[in-house]
Amino acid sequence: MSTPSSSSHYKVALIGCGRPWKADGATGFGMAHRHMAGFTASGRCTLVAVADLVGERGEEFVAVHNPKAAVYTDYLEMMKVEQPDVVSVCLWPKLHAEVVCQLAAFKPKLILCEKPMDINWDASLRMHEVCKQNGVMLCINHQRRFNLPLAKAKALLDAGEIGALQRMEGAWNDIADSGSHVLDMFFFYNNDLPADWVLGQIDLSEPRIVFGMLHAGHGVSEIRFKNGVRAVFRFGKDHAENGCLLRLIGERGLIEILFDDPWLRIRRAGQAEWEVLDTGEHIHDDKAIYRAIAEMLDCLEKGGVPQMDSSLALRATEVMFATHESSRRRGRVDLPLHAGPCAMLQMVAAGEMKLG
Ligand SMILES: NC(=O)c1ccc[n+]([C@@H]2O[C@H](COP(=O)([O-])OP(=O)(O)OC[C@H]3O[C@@H](n4cnc5c(N)ncnc54)[C@H](O)[C@@H]3O)[C@@H](O)[C@H]2O)c1
Repeated sequence: MSTPSSSSHYKVALIGCGRPWKADGATGFGMAHRHMAGFTASGRCTLVAVADLVGERGEEFVAVHNPKAAVYTDYLEMMKVEQPDVVSVCLWPKLHAEVVCQLAAFKPKLILCEKPMDINWDASLRMHEVCKQNGVMLCINHQRRFNLPLAKAKALLDAGEIGALQRMEGAWNDIADSGSHVLDMFFFYNNDLPADWVLGQIDLSEPRIVFGMLHAGHGVSEIRFKNGVRAVFRFGKDHAENGCLLRLIGERGLIEILFDDPWLRIRRAGQAEWEVLDTGEHIHDDKAIYRAIAEMLDCLEKGGVPQMDSSLALRATEVMFATHESSRRRGRVDLPLHAGPCAMLQMVAAGEMKLG
């Protein structure tokens, strides 16, 4: 059981209390447990309430994190009664925008919502706008910006170790679930500069359903950023053939973030061998969430835009939906992408793309 620090001053509530990954009866990763560990580690938060449709999951959750916290099955009732300062949304993607928009009306200081923003682009834009209108800080859990190997790669880039960034390559399972992180990291490494256009293709011959969301089994997305940097993201079950999760190509060298130990390596111009850099952390370490939460709370207190702010997450989200749109148009999509539902879902619904 965690004990709130005496300096805690944020009342925290969580929605969706899935059991931890691989636990008996787990339906996913149980991200709420990971968020709560981060809130506790901040020393500035007290868990006041949770809501889960399945009451026993809420009961189990508070038993671990704070037995004094209240348990609800209706999150709107929870918001009315508890009026938390901070709310975490750890639900499956199709619920994200709808729930976040409802929560914003209660004007908590901060909503931390899991990625991806939503299964539709217009809904993703709406959740950002509604939070802005209500003065609510909305953050999307793209916590990998705070992971040590990934952040060290940025520090090396910023220090000029491989010269100016020219190109990036990424690879992972899909574009919207794990791929949401890859796209966000492209923006991170390119100093969050906007993208100009996207050219993409998706293939639904081997579709995947992840957290209730349809994903193309294979695909590719090329992104051109306003500063001329280009990125290519290949996604699908054979993603490991790319050799690494992320490759940063500078005018004088390469940095790679790998799927396995060693997690990070660099090869500067003139270096015959890779140099491995050990940050003491692997690329999935939960400490990234702890650091992300601490930074969000710092921004609440001192001002500033958090690294996981929805304004930044929207850029990666736009590229994701523009990739689907590009597949529909069979051509390049210039940004900004018009607000609308997901092109892939629309094509499937209209029978223009078949599953399998
Ligand atoms: N940031 C990351 O690295 C990362 C990693 C894994 C998963 N995720 C994301 O986290 C999100 C949540 O995934 P998870 O693994 O925690 O899911 P999960 O299945 O473990 O938990 C979801 C919980 O939500 C509850 N629920 C469903 N509908 C509800 C409702 N209307 N009201 C209240 N509770 C409801 C379910 O009963 C369940 O307990 C997903 O969007 C997923 O993509 C992010």
